[in-house]
Amino acid sequence: MIKVSAPGKIHFLGEHAIVFGKPAILAAINLRCVVSLNPNKTGKIKTFSRQLVKGKERFDAIDIAVSETFKFLKKPKALGFNLQLDSKIPVGCGLGSSAAVSVSVIGALFLLLGEKFDKKKINQIAYLTEQKIHGFPSGGDNSTATYGGLVWYRKEAEDLKIIEPLPFLLAKNLARNFVLIDTGRPKETTGEMVAGVRKLFGKRPQWTEKIFNDQEKLVKKLLSALKENNERLVMETIRLGERNLEKIGVVGNFSHDLIRQVESLGGVAKICGAGGDKDRSGILLAYHVKPELLVALTKKLNLNSYVVALGEEGVRQDG
Ligand code: MEV
Repeated sequence: MIKVSAPGKIHFLGEHAIVFGKPAILAAINLRCVVSLNPNKTGKIKTFSRQLVKGKERFDAIDIAVSETFKFLKKPKALGFNLQLDSKIPVGCGLGSSAAVSVSVIGALFLLLGEKFDKKKINQIAYLTEQKIHGFPSGGDNSTATYGGLVWYRKEAEDLKIIEPLPFLLAKNLARNFVLIDTGRPKETTGEMVAGVRKLFGKRPQWTEKIFNDQEKLVKKLLSALKENNERLVMETIRLGERNLEKIGVVGNFSHDLIRQVESLGGVAKICGAGGDKDRSGILLAYHVKPELLVALTKKLNLNSYVVALGEEGVRQDG
C-alpha cells in the first residue's frame, strides 16, 4: 500500500491580487489530506472518500488529478487501483482543500508508477488540475501543498512562477496567537470568486490595479514584520489588507461585522483565501495577543475556531 499526504494552507495575505501577478505569503497548516493507493487486478480505478461526496466539485479533483498525471507522464491508463482519500481539511472555506487533494493524489500516483518523487513535476500537474477545477487559479494553493512551510509566491507569467520557501519560522509568540475562525461555507466556489474579481477588474481596471498595488506593498511589509517578529506591524498589515479585500467585494456582511467585533476587542482578522460575498466567507485568519478572547467570542457566536500550527511540511510519503 502507498500512502502520501499533503497539507492545507492559509493565505497570510495577497489572495486575489496573486491571480493578477502580485506576490502573496502563504503558510502550510497541520491539517492534511492522506491518500492511500492499493493496486487491484480489475484494471479499473476505484475511488473512495469518507469526506467527499461523489458528484460534488472536490470529488472531481481526484479524477482530474488522476487523468492529468497519466497525460503528463504519457502513460496509458492500464493500471487498476483502489484510491482511498482521508482529509482533515474542511472543504470549500479557503484552506486549499482541493489543492491538497490534487497534490496528494498525484504524489501517490508517482510512487505507484515508479516515478521519482519530483516535487516540481508534482506541482506542475497539480496546477493543471487546479486550472480544470477553478478556471484561473494562481497556483499558490498547490505550491504551498507541495513545498510546505511559509511560501512567498508570485506568478510572473503562465510558465514562470516564483515559489520561494521562506527561510525562517514564525517566532513562537506570533505563532501561538493566530486563530482560524470558520464563518461557514460560502455560497460561491473559489472559481466564481476569482471570476467576480476578474469582472471587477474588467470594469474598473485602474481602480482595481491601485488596490492590488497597495496590497503588494502590504505583503512586502508583512514579510519583514514576520521575519523581524514585529507584532504591531503584522497586525497592521492584516487589518489594512482586509480593508482592500472588502473593497474588491470578497467579504460578505456577516464576516465584515465579525471582523469589526474582533477589532473592537483589540485583535485583527481577515478573510483567508477566496472569501465569499453572498453570505458566509469561509475561514478568517485572526490574531490577538490574547487568542483566548477570540475563542470565547466564537463560542458565544456558535462558530468553530481552530488553533493550528503554521509552516508544516509539504507533500510527503507517509507509508
Ligand atoms: C484561493 O485560495 C486564493 C485565490 O487567490 C485564488 C488563487 O490563488 O488561485 C482567491
